[in-house]
Amino acid sequence: MSSYLIEGGTPIFGELPIQGAKNSALPILAATVLAPGVSELGHCPRLSDVEHTLAILRTLGCSADQEEDRVRVDAAALCSSAIPDHLMREMRSSVIFLGSVLARTGEAVLSTPGGCEIGLRPIDLHLEALRKLGAEIRTEGPVLRCRAGKLRGCDIQLAFPSVGATENIMLAATAAEGVTRIHNPAREPEICDLQAFLRAMGARVSGAGSSAIEIEGGAPLHGAVHRVFPDRMAAVTYLAAAAAAGGELTVTGVRPHHFAAASEVLREAGCSLRTYADAVTIGRRERLRAVGPVRTMPYPGFPTDAQAVIMSALAAAEGTTIFVENIFENRFRHVGELRRMGAEIRTEGRVAVVSGVERLHGAKVRATDLRGGAALVCAALGAEGTTILSGTELIRRGYEDLAGMLALTGARIKETNEEEKYGKREAKP
Ligand code: UD1
Repeated sequence: MSSYLIEGGTPIFGELPIQGAKNSALPILAATVLAPGVSELGHCPRLSDVEHTLAILRTLGCSADQEEDRVRVDAAALCSSAIPDHLMREMRSSVIFLGSVLARTGEAVLSTPGGCEIGLRPIDLHLEALRKLGAEIRTEGPVLRCRAGKLRGCDIQLAFPSVGATENIMLAATAAEGVTRIHNPAREPEICDLQAFLRAMGARVSGAGSSAIEIEGGAPLHGAVHRVFPDRMAAVTYLAAAAAAGGELTVTGVRPHHFAAASEVLREAGCSLRTYADAVTIGRRERLRAVGPVRTMPYPGFPTDAQAVIMSALAAAEGTTIFVENIFENRFRHVGELRRMGAEIRTEGRVAVVSGVERLHGAKVRATDLRGGAALVCAALGAEGTTILSGTELIRRGYEDLAGMLALTGARIKETNEEEKYGKREAKP
């Protein structure tokens, strides 16, 4: 198990270029199978989730390789429509292959992505919509068998603007006869990036980012070249790190309006934020102060993926902040670890009450999930003393070298096997 050793209490300074967006890259990679051609992605982050997605593409018969931030996928030789269970288990977002494999081959076999660390994450909205498009879907235990003799465009009203369901429908609808309209789709920027890629492939898609998306199916598709846009969650994580540690940090190559809701909370907490066309500078000198309730919402509301990192920063603010997690039902798992660092946080259901303490202290903690792990890094940077954070492989799912990037800003953080040296964390009493 890999770990980070973090010495807290040092303000951070500098400029960090932001990686490509994980949540754009994954559905776009799934979309490459729609056409029997070669697609090339630039600014694709080097992450374990991307590696798993490339492994799925290879299982399907495609060639798929990453060199630095460039990925090349040749989907001409696609010869399978089944995704093995072990790859589905690695990454729940692999369910996005359902729409694209179904569209390309007329069938798809994969296992249901079961419950996970942040919540149940059912896929009922995905399945209901695909059935409406004409897919026959049978479940045999954990295995989903999908067939589509002929997909037909239709109107789909989403009861909740699910990101994954919106993506799956967009992908499947490219092969449907006629027009598909998604009402109440997710409006996340990643949906717009997927639309841009689909258009580059020749698909007729419009409306991403608005209250309805329209896909006119049946257009001949080909491979495409695309640059993945910047990762708003990586940007927010580094800003939260600076808010927790103090100092002055600039994130570059970003689209500030994509994470305006999180920036606003940091500003309310007393950080100074300067926003440029493609960069944001944060400064924090005084102790942070508590903010009004932070409620996670679908975009453009405050993102659930930013909840944990912002909570870490506010754990040492003056006053009490209330967090309401409206998107996932089990997304406070980092709270127990923050408590080990001296945070005073009470949770009840979807609500967390964070009573700011003067200062957190270092401790042995464990990453509970991707964003929760990043949140512990932020907390550790602002804490007094040494933190040993284990389970950092979860962080590599979504961040390109988080420790190395922070070290560039003066943070005292390094990858280590210190868990072996210091012994395993004692079991909780
Ligand atoms: C995506 C992101 C994830 C982010 C989330 C919300 C990727 C790879 N992941 O996840 O980082 O946290 O959006 O912004 O892009 N739901 C149902 N039935 C469904 C589908 C969803 O009940 O069929 C529920 C989920 O359980 C959850 C909520 O809807 O409570 C939001 O899920 P969704 O928007 O689908 O998130 P993901 O696409 O899984």
